[in-house]
Amino acid sequence: MSESKSLKVSAIKEGTVVDHIPAESTLKVMQILKLTKSSEIVSVVFNLESKTMKKKGIIKIGGKNLSSKETEKIALIAPKSTMNIIKNYKVVDKIKLKIPQEIKGVVKCINPKCITNNEEVQSKFKIENKEPLKLRCEYCERVMSRDDLIIQ
Ligand code: CTP
Ligand code: ZN
Repeated sequence: MSESKSLKVSAIKEGTVVDHIPAESTLKVMQILKLTKSSEIVSVVFNLESKTMKKKGIIKIGGKNLSSKETEKIALIAPKSTMNIIKNYKVVDKIKLKIPQEIKGVVKCINPKCITNNEEVQSKFKIENKEPLKLRCEYCERVMSRDDLIIQ
């Protein structure tokens, strides 16, 4: 095997591996997890050949478990990605991320006149369609797509 083919990112002992991220969304997932300024040990692969998808990204975060809010954010940006929980080098849990029916306080409404942008009201969206993603603001009824997402 040539050197480039055998080059692999090493396994982690404890932490979380987010796998099967659509390649073009990998950086976005890093940004929402704020891993760019992280003190955790992070390995990222952006463009891996995959059997099940065109190109995929993987993010390995040593020593960290993600919160349910963080998981929800990843599901919005990269649905169908997989979250692997690693303990003592073993995958002890494999979670397929799913977009919830309702999103609270995670996404900003793009309507500047919306009450959620002007008063102390938490944003709230109903998922109208999962793919392509369509969310509707519960307050001003503005419909947003994945490209409109500003993650809070
Ligand atoms: N992984 C890791 N460190 C470990 C164990 C696993 O970084 N100690 C990574 C693997 O490199 C892989 C992911 O976690 O990217 C999931 O591991 P595993 O379930 O063993 O791989 P697959 O069977 O290929 O997963 P899937 O079926 O989800 O494609
Ligand atoms: Zn709104």
